[in-house]
Amino acid sequence: MDDLKQVATEVRACKICALASGRKNGVPGEGPANAEIMLIGEGPGFHEDQQGRPFVGPSGQFLTELLASAGFKRSEVFIANVVKCRPPGNRDPLPDEIAACRGYLDRQIALINPKVIITLGRFSMARWFPNERISSIHGRAKRIEGRTVVAMFHPAAALHQPALREAIEEDFRRLKDIMAQAQKQAEPPPQKTVKTDGDDSGAEQLSLF
Ligand code: URA
Ligand code: SF4
Repeated sequence: MDDLKQVATEVRACKICALASGRKNGVPGEGPANAEIMLIGEGPGFHEDQQGRPFVGPSGQFLTELLASAGFKRSEVFIANVVKCRPPGNRDPLPDEIAACRGYLDRQIALINPKVIITLGRFSMARWFPNERISSIHGRAKRIEGRTVVAMFHPAAALHQPALREAIEEDFRRLKDIMAQAQKQAEPPPQKTVKTDGDDSGAEQLSLF
């Protein structure tokens, strides 16, 4: 049976694309299997490659603060990336590398089945919002394939650009509301209690629970 450990094991040994040759560590991602929120970044940077863990450098520190401002602990969300190995010199991942790595991310999404996916930066955004601009859609929740997806700026970009920083901070402050809304949309609409006409079967009694 597939599980997150299996995915991680495969990622750490993976040689499917050229990024394998320059990495120190594959970075599968981390977090609980039942996380309600999944954050998807671009790819490991220097620190992530060194440690084999996602978002552990300066942008990771910032991400942890953003989550805290929204009332979430880093340990309760799942953090992953579009590509699991560091592109040399932190260059952008190439289309064929993203395609090669996609199966791992697909499996993680299927296994975790998060209520909310937050894309961080343009490479993860492109998967759900291929024709949109981050400047016009950031922070807006959209229902896609039965879950809520929200595009946000990449923390590494936002960290040093005051306008983007304000935007991402504001977007994260709205996360509790977005979660509450996603929760409501995930639940089936409440059923009315139907009174039967006094026969004793009780089979027509529908309740909320
Ligand atoms: N930037 C990313 O996109 N991912 C990481 O894991 C770290 C920095
Ligand atoms: Fe494999 Fe993805 Fe790493 Fe490429 S980036 S070697 S596909 S794990």
